Amino acid sequence: MSQRYSNIHSDIWDALAEQGWAISHEFLPVDAVEALAEEARQLLLAGKFSSAGIGRGAQRQIRAEARSDQILWLDENELTPAQSRYWSEIESLRIALNRELFLGLASFESHFAFYPPGAFYQKHVDRFSSSDERAISCSLYLNLDWKEEDGGQLRLYLDDQMVEVFPQAGTFVIFRSDNVPHEVAPANKYRFSLTGWFRRRSINSTFND
Ligand code: OGA
Ligand code: MN
Repeated sequence: MSQRYSNIHSDIWDALAEQGWAISHEFLPVDAVEALAEEARQLLLAGKFSSAGIGRGAQRQIRAEARSDQILWLDENELTPAQSRYWSEIESLRIALNRELFLGLASFESHFAFYPPGAFYQKHVDRFSSSDERAISCSLYLNLDWKEEDGGQLRLYLDDQMVEVFPQAGTFVIFRSDNVPHEVAPANKYRFSLTGWFRRRSINSTFND
């Protein structure tokens, strides 16, 4: 791994350890972000996205009042070249987080998300009540030329402040899955992201799912 990338990762783990969240604008090179953005657009045109559910297993249900985005899960075994660049960067971050913060992150899951104009995701935390597997959440945004007046910001509700992150292409935000309530405000343009979760091996979920 180049020095450039190890510096980006050390900025991320420092901030994550200190404040429970971090942001980077250099997580992936611009051409890699653009390739993912183009892929997301093509997959949407091809009708590959579907309405996101809330919860999992038998508890999974479509609740348009809580979230109105559409998603498409990545298949780790069938990644496109653009997805592989993202996944391998994620993988080296996972190893760095385990080495530096002893997080014991065992795997990663990720989906594209598409929010049509007006779509939103109400305030929530990412850890399911039935499972303690999700440890760290992250989103990479895929929207070129996003402006603040376009809305669609992610709001993180931290202990002492609220932080807003606009979904500009290349912005990468990462935070604890267990204790950072957050929401997605409606936008007035198409909003694409790649959202994912670093997972631990679960102690509980085999008994509950
Ligand atoms: C989620 C989520 C945030 C975003 O999918 O759980 O909070 O900015 N997404 O897309
Ligand atoms: Mn979330």
